[in-house]
Amino acid sequence: MLSAACLAQPSAPRWPTLNGQAPLVIGHRGASGYLPEHTLEAYRLAVEQGADFIEPDLVATKDGALIARHEPNISATTDVATRPEFASRKTRKTIDGAEEEGWFASDFTLAEIKTLRAVQTMPERDQSHNGRYAVPTLQEVLALARRLSEQTGRTIGIYPETKHPRWHRTLGLGLEDRLLAALAQAGLTQRDSPVILQSFDPASLQAMRGRSAVRMVQLLAPGASNLGAAATSGTGQSRPLSPLSPQTLREIRAYADGIGPFKTDLLPPSTLLRDAHAADLFVHAYTFRNEARRVAAPFQGDPLAEYRAFYGWGVDGVFSDFPDTAVAARR
Ligand code: G3P
Ligand code: CA
Repeated sequence: MLSAACLAQPSAPRWPTLNGQAPLVIGHRGASGYLPEHTLEAYRLAVEQGADFIEPDLVATKDGALIARHEPNISATTDVATRPEFASRKTRKTIDGAEEEGWFASDFTLAEIKTLRAVQTMPERDQSHNGRYAVPTLQEVLALARRLSEQTGRTIGIYPETKHPRWHRTLGLGLEDRLLAALAQAGLTQRDSPVILQSFDPASLQAMRGRSAVRMVQLLAPGASNLGAAATSGTGQSRPLSPLSPQTLREIRAYADGIGPFKTDLLPPSTLLRDAHAADLFVHAYTFRNEARRVAAPFQGDPLAEYRAFYGWGVDGVFSDFPDTAVAARR
C-alpha cells in the first residue's frame, strides 16, 4: 500500500522567481532611507534589517582608490562644500555629456576624502546623522560584509556598481581592474561567490566577463534607454510591451546573468519580467522607497503593497532604501 507521503504531489515552489527561491533584498546604498547613503553605518543597518546584499556604487579617487559614492561629484553626498581647505577645488567637469559644477572625487586623494563626512541627500529624510560618518573604500565594504556574515551567520553579499566607467578610463582611473583585484584579494571569484557586479554600461560588464566568473547584472535606464536603438527593436509594435526585445535579452545573456530595470518598466502589461526569465536572466528591480510619492502609482502610496505585487509577479530581487519594509513584505 502506498503511503500518504508517496501519493503527495510535489509542492509548487513558493516563489515565482527564476530559481524558485525568495526574492533578494538589496540594501540600496545601504539602508539609505534612514542613514546617509554609502556609509558603513548605512550598510550595517541594512544587514540588521535583514538585507541579503549591500550595494556600493563605485567611483575613483585621484590616487586610484575605489570609494563608495553614487557620483564622482561629491558635493551633494558629503560636507565638502563646508570645508574651507577645499574651497579652491570647486570646478566644472563634463561627465558622460553632462556638465556639472562641484567637488569631484577624482581631484582628491583618499586621505583627503577620509577627512570628509557623509550627509543625507534627500531633504525629507532624517538629517540628524549628517557630518558623522566617513566615506568608505571598497575594501572596507568588503571587510564589513565578511564581518557581518560571521556575526549574523548569514551570507551577506556585496553588489558593486561601476559608475561612469568610460569617463574614469579617460582619466587613467579605470574601475574594472581595481574592482576585480579587490574581489580577488577577498576571494570573491566564483559564480557562487556572494557578489554581483552591475553597470549601466555594457562595455564595463563585458570587459570583466572574461576575467571573472562572478554574476553580473546589466542595469537598464528607464525604458532601457541606455542600450540604444537595438533595445527597442524587434516587436513590430508602435509601443512595445517590453522595452527590450527577446533578441536583445539573449544578447545580454551572453555576458550577464541578470538585468536591473527601473521598476515601472515591469508594470503590467509589460512582458519584460517574463521575457527575461525566458532568456534565463534574473530580474532585480530598482528603486523601492517608502515615501508615498516614490511608490509606483498603482499602489497609491503603499510600499508594502508595491513589494508584494512585485514579489507575486516573480521579481528576483529588489533594490530598497528601506530594507526593513522589503523584508516585512517578503514574510
Ligand atoms: O544599481 C541599481 C540602482 O542603484 C541604479 O540606480 O542611480 O541608484 O545607482 P542608482
Ligand atoms: Ca546603484
